[in-house]
Amino acid sequence: MNKKILVAVAWPYANGDLHVGHLAGAYLPADIFARYHRLTGNDVLMVSGSDSHGTPITVHAEQEGVTPREIFERYHARFLETQQEIGISYDLFTHTDTPNHHRVAQDIFSRLLECGYLHLRRQKQFYSETRQRYLPDRYIEGACPYCDYTEARGDQCDNCGRMLDALELINPRCKIDGATPVIRETEHFFLDLPKLETQVLAFLADDKEHWRPNVLSFSRNYVKGGLRERPITRDIAWGIPVPLEGYAGKCLYVWFEAVIGYLSASIEWAELVGEPEAWKAWWYEPDALTYYFIGKDNIPFHTLIWPAELLGLERIYEDERRLNLPYDVPANEFMNIQGAQASKSRNWAIWIPDLLSRYDPDAIRFYITSVMPETSDSDFSWQDFVQRNNSELVGVWGNLVNRVLSFTAKHFDAVPEPGALGDVDHALLDKAEVAFETVGAHLAAVQFRAALSTALGLAREANRYLEVKSPWKQLKEDRVAAGTSLYVALQAINALRVLLSPFLPFSAQRVHEMLGYTTSLFGEQTITEVGEGARGKHDVLRYDAREAVGRWEFELLPAGRPLQKPRPLFKKLDESVIAEELARMGS
Ligand code: MF3
Ligand code: ZN
Repeated sequence: MNKKILVAVAWPYANGDLHVGHLAGAYLPADIFARYHRLTGNDVLMVSGSDSHGTPITVHAEQEGVTPREIFERYHARFLETQQEIGISYDLFTHTDTPNHHRVAQDIFSRLLECGYLHLRRQKQFYSETRQRYLPDRYIEGACPYCDYTEARGDQCDNCGRMLDALELINPRCKIDGATPVIRETEHFFLDLPKLETQVLAFLADDKEHWRPNVLSFSRNYVKGGLRERPITRDIAWGIPVPLEGYAGKCLYVWFEAVIGYLSASIEWAELVGEPEAWKAWWYEPDALTYYFIGKDNIPFHTLIWPAELLGLERIYEDERRLNLPYDVPANEFMNIQGAQASKSRNWAIWIPDLLSRYDPDAIRFYITSVMPETSDSDFSWQDFVQRNNSELVGVWGNLVNRVLSFTAKHFDAVPEPGALGDVDHALLDKAEVAFETVGAHLAAVQFRAALSTALGLAREANRYLEVKSPWKQLKEDRVAAGTSLYVALQAINALRVLLSPFLPFSAQRVHEMLGYTTSLFGEQTITEVGEGARGKHDVLRYDAREAVGRWEFELLPAGRPLQKPRPLFKKLDESVIAEELARMGS
């Protein structure tokens, strides 16, 4: 039976290019996971989009002296291209400024209000007298009251991960002009988290064995101290207006509405495929599994706030059922760069568009997966990038494909007819078959590093097999024996074509073609304009699986199948790359 798998991916703020932190933290694991499940025949819905509102966008716009819309549109367009190039196969990558998202976010606000979970409260807020305006969230920086980190922002501390209220900061200052802000009274809607606490606790207590221990303990510790009411509206002009009369100038808090994007994007996707009800299967069916791929700084919003919103709604849109709560939130840790914490402001970052201008997408995907920060912070190092590219990607997998296909092309022009198979031959075929279970089990358990190294293990086995058999020697005395060895090695390559495809989709497609397939392993990814009217038209990234033929199963290549002339799969990198890249980074 096909399972419904929702792959919900963190929405990047549209205020700067994508960097390896985004890729390692959320997008690449989500993509590998989605591709794997599609191959197994499950029904995957993978959604995300640009997070286009709030102070992350407006602060950036002010610093550049342009409008928030200009910033968000610029980076949204770049996100589409970058993610298409690196192969993140969203069924839909949209943004939060669509009429659809505005409507769904406002509906959820109204519904929570109706259910008694939103209250209007007077509140103190920082205010700039010189600029006559409030300074919410990221307009303020100061020291974190929980961990003393001195550069905490008004919405969250990057050091301890706590959600903050700007007023809690010690030595608050305005991010734009450095001035000490004054305090004013204002009025906002607060989400009644205390009233939802029991339900949130029950959610966190319930059958969470499959959660990563760090995600679970962070979330449970958070609730231990008791949940407080949180304001979910702001005095800000760029965002989704509060859907009530008399609140002009107030918008929904960006985090309150961005998490709703998972739902609104599912609804938008269903409209786009012409089956407006189709999203419901992922959101209502009790055995649908919903996975949220995020970086660890996003944990409280996905394990507390979003579940609280879903619980508070009870139900929505005349449906009697409850929307599904997150099944798993496999948050990744951070990826440092050359041993130091990445930082946008210090420009200590590796930007994906820049990486793509010099390296193949699969080389990037391979390295990032190899050092993915699944259980602790990890490190991107150029030395390691070059080393793993050359010794593993080129040396193990590329070399296997290259030597077997070149040799076969030279001496047999198709998959050779095998003679009787011996123990050594059977052993390799068995290992290839079993790999679908072992690699698959790791992938299903969101363990991508282990999955990749297990698959690579099979490629190493196949290389060892070739050394033992030495078809180049066998050919001199016994053409059938040589053909048998190549036949068996080709079966291992055929298996690895699929086993490695979630990680290396571009080169897997090339192997697929070299092995004589004329179809597409995966589907097509396109950037298209959707929607109607000036406010409704927008560009999205869409994945279309209709032509995809890849299946997660061991399949024998038939003898006699014509093969394509092989071309090298990957490029070996010169050691000089390391010094060049370090110089580019200014270190
Ligand atoms: N924009 C946030 C960030 O970049 C992530 C938002 S995820 C969402 O940290 F679910 F809320 F959209
Ligand atoms: Zn802190």
